[in-house]
Parts: sequence; structure tokens; C-alpha cells
Amino acid sequence: MKPTLSDVERLAREAGAILREGYNKEHTVHYKGTIDLVTESDHASEAFLLGEIKSHFPGGHILAEESGSIQGSNEDLWYIDPLDGTVNYAHHIPIFCVSIGFASNGVLTLGAVYDPMRDEMFLAEKGKGATLNGKPIHVSNTTELEKSLLVTGFPYDTWNTELDNFKYFERLAKKTQGVRRLGSAALDACYVGAGRFDGFWEFKLKPWDVAAGGLIAREAGAIVTSIDGREDFLASPLSILATTPGIYEATKGQLK
Ligand code: IPD
Ligand code: CA
Ligand code: CA
Repeated sequence: MKPTLSDVERLAREAGAILREGYNKEHTVHYKGTIDLVTESDHASEAFLLGEIKSHFPGGHILAEESGSIQGSNEDLWYIDPLDGTVNYAHHIPIFCVSIGFASNGVLTLGAVYDPMRDEMFLAEKGKGATLNGKPIHVSNTTELEKSLLVTGFPYDTWNTELDNFKYFERLAKKTQGVRRLGSAALDACYVGAGRFDGFWEFKLKPWDVAAGGLIAREAGAIVTSIDGREDFLASPLSILATTPGIYEATKGQLK
């Protein structure tokens, strides 16, 4: 059975409640890498989501951050980030979300991103637009880089990689009203869809970070590609550029 948009909405809302309940408690933090963390809430949210998907929508393939790849039919593909913004969460910074994307026969069709601290539910279904708490959202009509506010993120191997994004951060910070770093790629993309930011770029993401947010931004009118302009932004090597149409070419031009 294929999920509907209200199915993924329910899953994101209920997993978000798990994150909200755990937020004020002391966190158990484990390290997956030097600066890559995981808390008890990442695991609790993911266990809930996998249990629900396996019992209500069995047989599909699931890409979930903490469990990796769970084999199933490629006809149905789930992208699960049980807690996007783990470093914020571990430091009690209330900027994080649950992100659920679903692709049917290779086409991304459903996206739900839920911020439980603000009770903001971003949803999109391919071809049907995007909403925030039930109201349609749309990208900004900014056409000049100089008048834009952007957002980006940095990879977990920042300490040791050449592609650490600092060159582009500096370049774009000096050509725009500013570049923010919120710490949640899924929310970054949704905020472009909601017209809060004019553009978002990031290198070296994982599909579960931006499957849902990318669809939501696209359905809200953003141009969403890889940084080098590929339509299929989830294909490897994964990078994302999501902007309002008026600044897409100018932003892309700065990311070379
Ligand atoms: C991270 C966040 C962050 C981005 C990192 C992601 P996580 O996801 O989305 O904004 O810069 O690249 O890995 O680890 O909090 O789920
Ligand atoms: Ca993530
Ligand atoms: Ca995560």
C-alpha cells in the first residue's frame, strides 16, 4: 500500500512529539565521527518511524539515517531523517525537525518536514504545491543577489576536507544581505519554500537530509538542482542548490 500525504504528515507529527518530549531531558550523546553526534531521541524517533512504516506500508525500501539501507522493493522508497539538526538538539537549541520523503517508482512524490518546537508542518505532494500548516507557501520574488538572504551548512568532515564550503560562504556573504547557518538542512530548504530565505546551498549531504525539503521547496516554486545544475539533486555526489528563480543563475555562478 502506498502512503498518502496525510500518512506522512501523521508520521512526522508523531515522531516530532517524541523529539519534543525528549528535548528538555539530559541527552545521551554518542559520537559517529569527530563532530557527528547521535542522541537517544534520534534512535527513539527512528524506531517509531520504522515500526510504523513496516507495519502499515510493508515491502518498500527504506533509507534511514541511523539504520542505513533496509532492503525492499525499489518501487517504494522512503527517506527518513528522524532528527535533522542533531547538534542543535544536543545543545538544547530549538532548531531541528523530522524529515520524511517518499519516492514512487523513482519519482519523489511526498515530503513532510515537521518542526515540533514551533509546531510548523511543511508538506508537499508532487504537482500539487507546498503548504505550511495547511496554507500554501511560495518562494520570495527576490531577483537580486544583493537583496537576498541565504542559508548554508558545513559537512561533518569540515576539519579535514578541502570542500569545506568556507570559500563559498565568504564569497556569498560579501555579495548578499547575509548567509545564515541554522544547522538543519531540511528546515533550510523549507524556509526557502516559505520565502524566509531566498536561497540554500550545501555540499555533501545525504538523501534523507533533503529529499522532503527539496520537494517542498520545488513545489513552492524554487529551482532545486545539485550545485552543478543536475535536476536529480538526490543523485550522488549529493549537493543541493535551492533558490527563488530570480537569483538561481547568479547564485550558481558564485559556486564555481
Ligand atoms: C545535518 C544537518 C546540518 C547539515 C549537515 C547534516 P543531522 O544533519 O542537516 O544542517 O549541515 O550536513 O548532516 O546530522 O543533524 O541529521
Ligand atoms: Ca540530517
Ligand atoms: Ca539526523
